[in-house]
Amino acid sequence: MTQPDRFEIVPSVLPADFARLGEECAALEAAGVDRIQWDVMDGRFVPNLTMGPDIIAACRKHCSVMFEAHLMVLEPQELMHRYVEAGCDLIIVHAEACTHLHRTLAQIRDLGAKSSVALNPHTPVDVIKHVLDLTDMVLIMTVNPGFGGQAYIQTMEPKIRETAALIAESGYPVEIEVDGGINAATVSGAAAAGARVLVAGSGLYKHEGGLGAAVSELRKLAEEAVA
Ligand code: DX5
Repeated sequence: MTQPDRFEIVPSVLPADFARLGEECAALEAAGVDRIQWDVMDGRFVPNLTMGPDIIAACRKHCSVMFEAHLMVLEPQELMHRYVEAGCDLIIVHAEACTHLHRTLAQIRDLGAKSSVALNPHTPVDVIKHVLDLTDMVLIMTVNPGFGGQAYIQTMEPKIRETAALIAESGYPVEIEVDGGINAATVSGAAAAGARVLVAGSGLYKHEGGLGAAVSELRKLAEEAVA
């Protein structure tokens, strides 16, 4: 779990060179990232198709940082065990894709992984009110899922604050992650609102100083936002 004001910088590998993913994972670890997020898309829950568990398994030996699988898929309960077997330590399912979210989160923990629920921009925070005891992390989407390089939805900041208040009231140690349009211009707002786990794709890969400078800058800006 992250410390109250410690931030985790988590790259999305969507902008990485898919022809060299193993080397890209090693480079991300060298750049100082805390975890790596795999954006898994099925072409049904979101209008895009990305990687299966075998690709992630092939990359596992190239670095030692924690892998998390962001399952932007319908019926994630049918697939999630494959991503744990592939080496993912944390599984993120979308509330919108789970008919039985309470059962699915419990099943993730039964698989030996940490559990997380993601909320699309339109989904109210109340959806997670009765599953916080089964949740290690809540992911507040700050874009509509499916593609990298989209604009940050600033109106999600009150939702991040609302999530932080709900978690504080519950007493459960649940992290808040944000994903989508996180970069040097937007990270301060997300951090000040309560996010402590920051996913960035374009914001890291398009940084003119390279991955290491991008990771350091994001972390510094987030820390300054809550100092
Ligand atoms: C959306 C993806 C993206 C990605 C981050 O489905 O989940 O949010 O991880 O992409 P950037 O940081 O480029 O918005």
